[in-house]
Amino acid sequence: MKQKSFTVATAVLLILIFFATLVSAGHGSGGSKKIGILLVAFGSSIPQAQVSFRNIDRKVKAAYPNIPVRWAYTSSIIRKKLAKQGRRLDSPEVALAKMLDDGFTHVAVQSLHTIAGEEFHDLRRTAQRFQYQGGFKRVLVGYPLLASQKDMERVVEAILQIIPKERKTDEAVVFMGHGTHHPSNAFYAALMFQVQRKDPNIYIGCVEGYPQIQEIMTMLLERRISKAYLMPFMSVAGDHARNDMAGDGADSWKSILTRAGIKCIPIMKGTAEYNDFVEIWVSHLKVPMAHF
Ligand code: CO
Repeated sequence: MKQKSFTVATAVLLILIFFATLVSAGHGSGGSKKIGILLVAFGSSIPQAQVSFRNIDRKVKAAYPNIPVRWAYTSSIIRKKLAKQGRRLDSPEVALAKMLDDGFTHVAVQSLHTIAGEEFHDLRRTAQRFQYQGGFKRVLVGYPLLASQKDMERVVEAILQIIPKERKTDEAVVFMGHGTHHPSNAFYAALMFQVQRKDPNIYIGCVEGYPQIQEIMTMLLERRISKAYLMPFMSVAGDHARNDMAGDGADSWKSILTRAGIKCIPIMKGTAEYNDFVEIWVSHLKVPMAHF
């Protein structure tokens, strides 16, 4: 009796497993491949910053004309701010869940971050979680702006292209990067080293990491610089550019350098507004797309 009920239970279980396998095998297979692109930025609540995002959106759609493109912002603070203004932006989690629900099978998630810091690694973990049985067949994340030596060289070239034409070689161009406690912060100083091999008066500092403005200021004074163009080394000329770089507050880079006798000319344009930079981000999409 005991033996018999065990056999029935086993048979029922086997049948259930059989159907479960059929259902999961049917999901997203059968040749119906739907590729999508998810562009993920930190986000910005400043309307002018949308210029940068629209520019990237246009370039990605031009490079992949038949692939649907969606957006997500990693910053919950920015998303909450925008929601209050009636603009709903998804987190990467929500955006991927919606794409799964909409039948996408392959998703290229492109990070629009500058370095592979905490935001980028969080994004990778999030994407990986969607690659379960019944999830996407493949979800891959494209690298941010600076992820390899080749990127570094391309960014150096992009920097040389975007610096103001009227700037004289004895005048400085000081870029403000974001900076982080993450080990990838080292990219900023590495980039400054490489850009200075081409143009010794281009500087890269960070608002929240090394090299700090005090370090940059010391370098400027050592080289007797009397005029500096200030530019954001962030995809958008958002809050940090407006306040910490070009603001009138005592702690802004403009104020600090002005007090040191250096005339400052801020340029309020994010890196994503320049095609030289956008092309690097868009080119990083090639890697995930090549796997689909
Ligand atoms: Co910040």
